[in-house]
Amino acid sequence: MGIAVYPGSFDPITFGHLDIIERASLLFDTVIVTVFDNASKSHQFSPEERVAMVRESTAHLANVQVEAFAGLLVDFVRDRGAKVIVKGLRAVSDFDYEFKMALMNKKLAPEVETVFMMTSSRYLYIASSLVKELFMYGACVEGLVPAAVLSRLRRGHIPAECG
Ligand code: PNS
Repeated sequence: MGIAVYPGSFDPITFGHLDIIERASLLFDTVIVTVFDNASKSHQFSPEERVAMVRESTAHLANVQVEAFAGLLVDFVRDRGAKVIVKGLRAVSDFDYEFKMALMNKKLAPEVETVFMMTSSRYLYIASSLVKELFMYGACVEGLVPAAVLSRLRRGHIPAECG
């Protein structure tokens, strides 16, 4: 079913993101995970680190590519010859923001569809912002983020007690 683009900040990638990527990789010929610098957010990890974490976490998926991009999402989508933007939806609270972005992207690029996938129930409560906050307070974040993220979070920190 062609090329799909899965955009996000991935600061850092979580098991919720990975679940969407794995499921999208079964639906589309190629999934390009695109790591954006969101102008309205400050990021904990550099674009290079975020790309590296996504690459390591998706290395088992042959049809998944990872790229960093700065600019308009629809420009990237058109440039790569994709027709679909994949987004994950957790809860009603995501809907308002995602709906507005999907409509704006539709206005900018009418030929591109945004396809929403519901997050698996076991990952509904996971958000990158919460993971960073938990880690800052020394809480265990195992089971929330892939190993590639855990090792980077722990670099220079005393590992939090888990279990
Ligand atoms: O993981 P996030 O922070 O929710 O991802 C937001 C993202 C990167 C998908 C969004 O900010 C985005 O599409 N940025 C690219 C710039 C752009 O196209 N902005 C207009 C969107 S209507």
